[in-house]
Amino acid sequence: MTTWLLTGGAGYIGSHVIRALQESGRDVVVVDDLSTGVAERVPEDVPLIVGSVSDRDLLERTMREYDVSGVVHLAAKKAVGESVEKPLWYYRENVDGLLSVLEAMSASGVKNLVYSSSAAVYGQPDSCPVVETEATVPLSPYGETKLVGEWAVADAAAVADLSWASLRYFNVAGAADPQLGDTSVNNLIPIVLRSYRNGEAAKVFGDDYPTPDGTCLRDYIHVADLAEAHAAAAAFTEAGGAAEAINIGTGKGSSVLEVIDSVSRAVGAEVPYETVDRRAGDPAELIAAADKAERVLGWTAQRDLDDMTSSAARAAGL
Ligand SMILES: NC(=O)c1ccc[n+]([C@@H]2O[C@H](COP(=O)([O-])OP(=O)(O)OC[C@H]3O[C@@H](n4cnc5c(N)ncnc54)[C@H](O)[C@@H]3O)[C@@H](O)[C@H]2O)c1
Repeated sequence: MTTWLLTGGAGYIGSHVIRALQESGRDVVVVDDLSTGVAERVPEDVPLIVGSVSDRDLLERTMREYDVSGVVHLAAKKAVGESVEKPLWYYRENVDGLLSVLEAMSASGVKNLVYSSSAAVYGQPDSCPVVETEATVPLSPYGETKLVGEWAVADAAAVADLSWASLRYFNVAGAADPQLGDTSVNNLIPIVLRSYRNGEAAKVFGDDYPTPDGTCLRDYIHVADLAEAHAAAAAFTEAGGAAEAINIGTGKGSSVLEVIDSVSRAVGAEVPYETVDRRAGDPAELIAAADKAERVLGWTAQRDLDDMTSSAARAAGL
């Protein structure tokens, strides 16, 4: 049995990745500073080492102590608006944190890495579905830190003989278990659920986009599917693979109004909404070309939008 180090394992996505790695037959050890994570999300049979990924010595000790053979690096700050207000902190947390992981891997001879990137690296792409070779023009410091991270991984891999995959997640949603929901309220489904719970109308930013119902299209991916993509990526690296970047999405877009309809089905009531002006910087559509993930990782998403909204509603206690 191999052991993988999962950074950020107490977070929303990390807690699902723990379970997917375990189900794929791997042991897991978590390093997490609990800045946004929750210790209770880490199962009792998984060691949780509380500390920062910027603590290179801690990472190196952990890799040696647990005889780690690969790293899934998720620990990062992820709020786009906050990154605009605190850009240097985002570079410190996201870029320095990754450099520390890469240095500790180099010092302890760990060769396999799955890196958590984001569709935010594309900014407003010229064409949709977005292929991985599309120009990367991130629109926020958050997206920039993710892109710099991809470059750092590729450059380190070239000299350190790493096997790696950078996964560009699209819009992550849902929960495999009501205890593991997304508490951060940065994404559309938690935002709509919160508005509904508060008796407020959810805001729809613009209904005059060139899309079938005029609202923005996004590619929503169930967090349990995303977690399984990490297990597939771990296997890919263990087999010696290296890929620049791989989109993790469904290849299918859902509009804001379709999401609100789906949330209405999930909560069994009409969810009110109001249309307001467009927000600056929102592309009309952002949908993954999902064929590289299928070809390279042998992975495709299995769950649909209703699975995401119903599980997110349960996790929100609705
Ligand atoms: N949720 C999304 O829609 C989405 C989309 C694209 C990419 N991502 C990326 O996925 C990763 C996980 O996101 P999430 O949604 O689970 O967020 P999250 O905030 O729930 O999880 C992040 C985890 O990392 C930990 N962490 C943060 N900084 C740390 C540090 N310096 N040292 C150690 N631990 C630290 C936090 O405590 C938390 O447990 C992030 O890298 C994020 O950028 C998320």
